[in-house]
Amino acid sequence: MKTLLCFGTRPEAIKMAPVISALKNNHLDYEVYVTGQHREMLDQVLEFFEIKPDYDLNLMQKEQSLNSLSALILEKTNVVLQEAKPDLILVQGDTTTAFIAALAAFNRGIKVGHIEAGLRTQNLQSPFPEEANRQLLSRIADFHFVPTPSNKVNLLKEGVSVDKIFITGNTVIDALKMAEKKLNSGFENDELIKLKKLLIKNKKLLLVTGHRRESFGGGLDKVCKGLQKFAERNDVQIIFPVHLNPEVRRKVFKILDNHPNIHLIEPVSYPSFVWLMMQASAIISDSGGVQEEAPFLKKPVLVTREFTEREETVIAGFSTLVGTSGEMLLKKLKGILENPPNFTGIQNPYGDGVAAQKIIEIIKCQNA
Ligand code: UD1
Ligand code: UDP
Repeated sequence: MKTLLCFGTRPEAIKMAPVISALKNNHLDYEVYVTGQHREMLDQVLEFFEIKPDYDLNLMQKEQSLNSLSALILEKTNVVLQEAKPDLILVQGDTTTAFIAALAAFNRGIKVGHIEAGLRTQNLQSPFPEEANRQLLSRIADFHFVPTPSNKVNLLKEGVSVDKIFITGNTVIDALKMAEKKLNSGFENDELIKLKKLLIKNKKLLLVTGHRRESFGGGLDKVCKGLQKFAERNDVQIIFPVHLNPEVRRKVFKILDNHPNIHLIEPVSYPSFVWLMMQASAIISDSGGVQEEAPFLKKPVLVTREFTEREETVIAGFSTLVGTSGEMLLKKLKGILENPPNFTGIQNPYGDGVAAQKIIEIIKCQNA
């Protein structure tokens, strides 16, 4: 049985990297296909994990629209499928690449395995368009690899057959462990050396990311204004690797550029970001992956969103949903700095770093 792994953006690549490793270590037949929905941010991940795609469509266009991107992916994936002739396609998460590539495979009668299935906010506008992408994907997938028991419950409620759902943990923990191991064994590069020089030892690090489309209407501006206010404190330093989406960059640079306590930097490679998370007193983010990684590193996250599909980390106490008004963010941030939380003994909800091998074992069973 031949497996085709398909992905297109930074977070998908990070979460697929351990699956590629596992397929390789198990000597299974597979090929790697990237749509190139992202370019620079995808390449950073491909380089770190030494992934060499068999197909790279290089589709990204500056300021691409969801529909033009979708149309390109649908048409071009068809050609890749014709050539690669896989029996199974594996997609990850809830991006346009994940859903549209799965649709192309479904239309050709190719089985679809969905990694990180079952996440839900039940609000099609938040996150947009990701909630729709993952719900639609669940309608056409043959295998649903869910990170947590509550993700399984979500799918059962939608009528997905129990024998198609497999609880595996999230492969992001596998990837994080790979990066952590490399960092602990002395890995360094120019970027990391530069970051180490940038940090001031007696200031607390607040690490920030943000890119959600549903925040473009005003939420991201308010979060930035909140951060601008907080940066007046002299005991903090903010590092914000700014996503390459031009809409994000316009907003963030307009409000936060040229502040002595705020460093707006380019997106950093995965090991550098993991290192930054390790140094942080608090992480402020609307990212899906970061909400999953922070509990493993025992770091608090203030989630700048109105809804989250990662409710396990909120329940466990690692994350706090602060919305996008900026007010709750400032209050909670102050609280964390005054009373740093202690997460000793609290289990990270996303698994122990063996999700990829669990997925491969299930694929092997289908093979038998
Ligand atoms: C996409 C995903 C989102 C995911 C996020 C991870 C969709 C609809 N959105 O959002 O689910 O959480 O990636 O980061 O699938 N750009 C570059 N270089 C890059 C990447 C992006 O220049 O390496 C710029 C381009 O101008 C591009 C724009 O960002 O047109 C938007 O990229 P796109 O993938 O459409 O949306 P994201 O906001 O990155
Ligand atoms: N990340 C990274 N470099 C950065 C910022 C984030 O490597 O400068 C990693 C982060 O550790 C996480 C992933 O990128 O694994 C999250 O990607 P993003 O926030 O773009 O997407 P999401 O997870 O929200 O879909």
